[in-house]
Amino acid sequence: VTVYVPRDTTALALGADEVAALIAQAATRRERDIKLVRNGSRGLFWLEPMVEVETAQGRVAYGPVEPDDVAGLVEAGLFDGGAEHPLARGLTDEIPYLKRQQRLTFSRIGITDPLSIDDYRAHRGFAGLEKALTMQSQAIVDEVKGSGLRGRGGAAFPTGIKWQTVHDEPEGRKYIVCNADEGDSGTFADRLAMECDPYMLIEGMTIAGLAVGATQGYIYLRSEYPLAHRVVNEALRRAYAAGYLGNDIRGSGKHFELEVRLGAGAYICGEETSLLDSLEGKRGMVRAKPPLPAIQGLFGRPTVVNNVLSLAAVPFILDRGGQAYADYGMGKSRGTLALQLAGNVKRGGLVELAFGTTLRELMEDFGGGTASERPLRAVQVGGPLCAYLPESQWDLPLDYEAFAEVGAGVGHGGVVMSDDSVDMGEQARFAMEFCSVESCGKCTPCRIGAVRGVEVIDRIRADDDRAANLELLSDLCDTMVAGSLCAMGGMTPFPVQSVLKHFPDDLTRSRGGSP
Ligand code: NAI
Ligand code: SF4
Repeated sequence: VTVYVPRDTTALALGADEVAALIAQAATRRERDIKLVRNGSRGLFWLEPMVEVETAQGRVAYGPVEPDDVAGLVEAGLFDGGAEHPLARGLTDEIPYLKRQQRLTFSRIGITDPLSIDDYRAHRGFAGLEKALTMQSQAIVDEVKGSGLRGRGGAAFPTGIKWQTVHDEPEGRKYIVCNADEGDSGTFADRLAMECDPYMLIEGMTIAGLAVGATQGYIYLRSEYPLAHRVVNEALRRAYAAGYLGNDIRGSGKHFELEVRLGAGAYICGEETSLLDSLEGKRGMVRAKPPLPAIQGLFGRPTVVNNVLSLAAVPFILDRGGQAYADYGMGKSRGTLALQLAGNVKRGGLVELAFGTTLRELMEDFGGGTASERPLRAVQVGGPLCAYLPESQWDLPLDYEAFAEVGAGVGHGGVVMSDDSVDMGEQARFAMEFCSVESCGKCTPCRIGAVRGVEVIDRIRADDDRAANLELLSDLCDTMVAGSLCAMGGMTPFPVQSVLKHFPDDLTRSRGGSP
């Protein structure tokens, strides 16, 4: 019988290694011949460590399994998929949280052994690449354009158009750079993709290389993801050994090399131009655009810089066709979005859905409301640079345009929920403080503005000339939005302005309760 115990960062943090060891010991003691597979998480973090057992009907799940639960589970017939136990969740695929998702990008996570190329292939892995190897580069670009895929890092620029720009530059050295410096609060989808299905990213980047005529790729990975680093490096080694990377990919005569470079903990290095500086061995400082990286990027050469999830969507698009991807979604937001439920939430985890679901459905039907069971009060979607949404905006469909219309952002899909004990004045202060710490210092509105922003908010909260300071804060936000060189300084005011607009009392009155 096959037993699955995940080995991604989340499951490990919750004791999955100990659970796996105890299951192996119990099997030995009972002389049961089990095959223990260390898969990745299915993204149902509220059930991790989630143990699964293969049965004739499909996999059955148990979770969250703590080391102390193992003996009881084995007693209740774990190795036969026994259902008489409070942690038994029935067939994994029937768990509503999973069943109601539309998993295109994350279709394999938790199902396969992340490092097994055979497993990957058995689940349509490398099918997109095999197809791309037979296609003209322009046809690959067209397929991605047809999918309507937009940059999943947050800016939502059409991926196909970015690729076209690089494709159209004269032949010569070009690069594919994957931005894996996932830094937004509450986000983990890039990490999950890399730890649980690393070949998907390798395949996506190789296809990008074929599409634009690049033979070298770099994955710029944040150093805070040591496990992803190990998994991706091992996957690269195996992909080279199996001929999916190198100078003659699967006998096609085509060439693509790929390696990982580690960041050093700076949020700003997730901004594409400072990322490129950092990759070149310099301190990560934002560059003025133009020139766009697509024209003059890494080492001054045409470069595709894409987020992990943009590249991870590409194998599906090549395998099933751009139209199959475009069939999901609404308006100009095509395909699916990897939402990450975090903060004060009962059922945190990864939820991949077609664009168009409302925030309320996501937070209530999937998230199950707050973990504290107190009323939900505010939600920040899209990371620390995006607005806080009050209840009046929770019925908005998740769609880039609908969110932009109310001054909010979908960003990289992080959804951080707060209950009614949250102090939104403190959250506004945090936005400015975060910017003052993480600013690269190149431009004045951000470098000086964020520091002054913290001071002004402190004065407002201390009731020191409040009316004048509120006006000053509003002016400062306008200056930062209009005058900053990049999104760091340019978007920091968004959460602050949303607090001014929707939660003004929190700024001007000290609230009880814990933040
Ligand atoms: P941007 O709008 O300046 O650019 C978007 C992308 O399109 C860039 O790669 C740019 O080079 C490219 N581009 C624009 N015009 C082009 C053209 N004509 N041809 C080819 N490429 C073209 O946005 P930016 O500053 O790169 O990103 C800001 C976003 O980053 C924000 O919306 C924010 O949500 C997100 N963000 C994400 C984080 C994460 O951890 N994923 C962290 C912080 C911010
Ligand atoms: Fe640097 Fe901030 Fe200016 Fe961006 S806005 S270039 S992070 S100082």
